[in-house]
Amino acid sequence: MKIKVTIVAGDGIGPEVTREAVHILESVGQLNGYKFQFTEMPIGGVAIRQHGSPLPTTTLDAALDSDAVLLGAVGGNEFNSLPPDKRPEAGLLQLRHALGGFANLRPSVAYASLSNNSPLRPEVTDGADILFVRELLGGLYFGEPRSWDRETGVGLNTMRYTRDEVVRVARIAFELAQKRRKKVTSVDKANVLEVSQLWRATVIDVAAEYPDVALEHQYVDACAMHLMNTPRNFDVVVTENLFGDILSDEAAVITGSLGMLPSATIGGKVNLYEPVHGSAPDIAGTGKANPLGAILTAAMLLRHTANLEQDALAIETAVQRVLTRGYRTADLARTNQPGQQIVTTQEMGRLVFEVLNEIIDRRQAMHAV
Ligand code: IPM
Ligand code: MN
Repeated sequence: MKIKVTIVAGDGIGPEVTREAVHILESVGQLNGYKFQFTEMPIGGVAIRQHGSPLPTTTLDAALDSDAVLLGAVGGNEFNSLPPDKRPEAGLLQLRHALGGFANLRPSVAYASLSNNSPLRPEVTDGADILFVRELLGGLYFGEPRSWDRETGVGLNTMRYTRDEVVRVARIAFELAQKRRKKVTSVDKANVLEVSQLWRATVIDVAAEYPDVALEHQYVDACAMHLMNTPRNFDVVVTENLFGDILSDEAAVITGSLGMLPSATIGGKVNLYEPVHGSAPDIAGTGKANPLGAILTAAMLLRHTANLEQDALAIETAVQRVLTRGYRTADLARTNQPGQQIVTTQEMGRLVFEVLNEIIDRRQAMHAV
């Protein structure tokens, strides 16, 4: 088996964290007898500098011709004064649109060994395990009309959803909930927005197809609070694009660092895998970036593109063990934390690689007897 992956590492810390994720994929493939074919292509700020466009056609063509796309991060301070459609972020949004994945899965898990990293008390976060299903191709990000008219001083974006767009993302949320704790929280602002009333009515209809899954509704403002007060009450959260963008960053507080969060976008022609964190230009090249978000993203690639659940789990277990042994990148470091060892991006990748080898060796030894 050969898995074709287009690598769009992008800007800032994107290349350094993606490198570690690629190493992990290569070694897991080697240990288990399958291969990856990686093609590296520019996106975001690097692509603007090299080709004058944040998503060159050659990058898009390569992405469309692969089994999966693995992205690092896009964005940089030098582009801050550009309009949205010229910025590095536009390249990512165009790529998402072209690949067609509409369901962005963002797990937020409170690892026991990081319980002191969250500003929330361990008794609040312990055991929290939330899966956000963020709608990724609709809402304010893509809704038309959109404009900023400097003369009249009016800015406009449109939060627009069709029933079909809500149905398809809701189905994914319910199907995933069936494999988890069988609860879906749908998040909207149906007390104010018509588009949210459509959202809620549609999710209720879809829920009838999944009688084994409990459905609850929360307004987005209340949800933002409940996530901090009672994160354990959530299983799958399904919500529209911008609400999901905001809530998934908020949920990083539960895990201890935004650098831990992976994501997978499914449902389209080609799945797109990207850590939730940004390009963090302030720490790029310093060895401080946390590669675990990217490495956990690689695990999601194995799960959702290659159906290699055992290998995805092996990577996730390896990450947990490395953390349990006290290794921390700078974002996870804490003062007065006995036993913690601060490591660089590369060292963290190497540690996960070593533990992963142990796990897979043991698995193979067990199968051999
Ligand atoms: C994310 C990011 C992106 C988004 C940006 C970089 C366009 O914040 O993936 O959460 O807003 O979707
Ligand atoms: Mn975001």
